[in-house]
Amino acid sequence: MEISFNRLDRGYKKYKSEYDNAVIDTLESGHYILGSRVKKFEVEFSDYLDIKYCVALNSGLDALILAFRALGIGHGDEVIVPANTYIASVIGITENGATPIFVEPDEYYNIDANKIEEKITDKTRAILVVHLFGQAAEMSKIKDISIKHNLFLVEDCAQSHGAISNEFVTGTWGDIGCFSFYPTKNLGAFGDAGAIVTNNEKIFEKIKMMRNYGSRIKYQHEIVGINSRMDEIQAALLSVKLKHYKDLRTEREDIALKFLEGINNSAIELPKIREGLEHVWHLFVVRTNERNHFQNYLQDNGISTQVHYPIPIHLSEAYAYLGHMVGSYPIAEYYSEHMISLPLYEGMAEDEIQYVIDVINQYKET
Ligand SMILES: Cc1ncc(COP(=O)(O)O)c(C=O)c1O
Repeated sequence: MEISFNRLDRGYKKYKSEYDNAVIDTLESGHYILGSRVKKFEVEFSDYLDIKYCVALNSGLDALILAFRALGIGHGDEVIVPANTYIASVIGITENGATPIFVEPDEYYNIDANKIEEKITDKTRAILVVHLFGQAAEMSKIKDISIKHNLFLVEDCAQSHGAISNEFVTGTWGDIGCFSFYPTKNLGAFGDAGAIVTNNEKIFEKIKMMRNYGSRIKYQHEIVGINSRMDEIQAALLSVKLKHYKDLRTEREDIALKFLEGINNSAIELPKIREGLEHVWHLFVVRTNERNHFQNYLQDNGISTQVHYPIPIHLSEAYAYLGHMVGSYPIAEYYSEHMISLPLYEGMAEDEIQYVIDVINQYKET
């Protein structure tokens, strides 16, 4: 059996006629940028999260860049960020001229809340939390630290739409929540898209201006902004997906539970779930000692996997200028050498799920 890592076509076909109608209606409307569909999605998404404001943007990266810019974070400032994340989290900081200060991950792959305070200096302005793989970080502790040290709290929720930590949904704990709707995300569009959410009206107004060349009124530019507008077609498609998101979440959770119950091989370490959390299973990440051997074994049996992420950011060529070395963040480095993500997607069939479980249970280390 051949199992791809992802099958976005299956997700599309599930609600095909609704998606098709959303696109055709938008095309027929004659309004393609910053029209009623973007406004509607902003209201729907902020209602879903139970937060006051949402600004629809072009990508998750733009959400991060504009979040720090709106908070006035720039040259000379430091921002705490997990060492185990996707590079976009870090680019959001460095694009504003600020310096990322890495913190090792915990056993749930998120920033270790117990290691944040030792990294705070008089230059620290914010903590960027990333709710990686669909599971929220230890938010009550992190929120307390941000209050105690008077730091902004920004959340990267690109992988955690709807994930809950101690009754609060991710994106609503901090000053700003940043979302990506990249097609492979749990709430994925059909092209690039992102958003910020906030309860702060000033931040909302500022980012709304920033996304549209710094203007509230056409051709009156109050600040130097950028172009980061979500387009009407993506907004219309996202409204359709958001309507079905509860079911899509349940579907991912069911697959993850089948993996958790069915995979039983001492060579494979399954993901752990922190108490009090609702995981949304963006990725199902396991750990194994002989990662390449395991990945090749799965591929030989027709199962495609991915590694999130093979090179920790502090060792990437892009950030060599920060001067970190092998051994600087040993836990993040260890994870990057041992983690591997299994296929888990909308429309994954029962026999496909079972096949992945059976093949993994037959795996033997060298
Ligand atoms: C953790 C994280 N942050 C930020 C992003 C950036 O989102 P986008 O690709 O929409 O710019 C992504 C996704 O790619 C991500 O996984």
